[in-house]
Amino acid sequence: MRYLTIALGKGRLAQKTMELFEKIGITCEEMKDPSSRKLIFTNEEMKLKFFLSKGPDVPTYVEYGAADIGIVGKDTILEEQRKLYEVLDLGYGKCRMCVCGPESAKELLKHQELIRVATKYPNIAKDYFYNKKHQTVEIIKLNGSIELAPIVGLAEVIVDIVETGSTLRENGLEVLEEVCPLSARVVVNQVSMRMENERITKILNDLKQVLP
Ligand code: PRP
Repeated sequence: MRYLTIALGKGRLAQKTMELFEKIGITCEEMKDPSSRKLIFTNEEMKLKFFLSKGPDVPTYVEYGAADIGIVGKDTILEEQRKLYEVLDLGYGKCRMCVCGPESAKELLKHQELIRVATKYPNIAKDYFYNKKHQTVEIIKLNGSIELAPIVGLAEVIVDIVETGSTLRENGLEVLEEVCPLSARVVVNQVSMRMENERITKILNDLKQVLP
């Protein structure tokens, strides 16, 4: 039996994902050591490998078959536009992709003005403004702390993830429009889905049983 490889995005989702896998009897003791710098972990009995990568790289590993299965946020799936199957909504990591800004920017959105939009998600922002709203905007790609952009005058609005809303509140910004809801998803390589269908389907069914 060959190893099935599962890619996890580093950070917030990884911990929850490992807890979920434990509930279905898939454990990886090695991965629990927080001081470890190791990137790949093996469960010999189950012939499974887990690895941690940057979230946005998970769909890439899965499309190329370096991972059979990936656990990743819907935001990353939408942004990366990789060829893969999205097969299960895990229901955690719930948040929303939103257009945010100061209250004063509401008018600019209403009147279809040529505004600047700062975001870590240029593809999602383009799709929303060009295809859904039919509004021409200038998209500016940033890598984090997106809320800074409207405060310092880089952009009128941002497209970003809102979870609790505290980052917005603490910086005098608000949700102006909702783009889509987000949560953690399971993605599967298209060839693996055929070649390892039985094992993958079993994992997916087991996961469904333990989801809240
Ligand atoms: C995310 C997002 C917001 C914040 C939203 O940033 O980009 O800034 O969390 O959460 P809240 O609504 O609960 O305040 P993250 O912490 O991932 O870091 P980043 O700024 O580097 O993207």
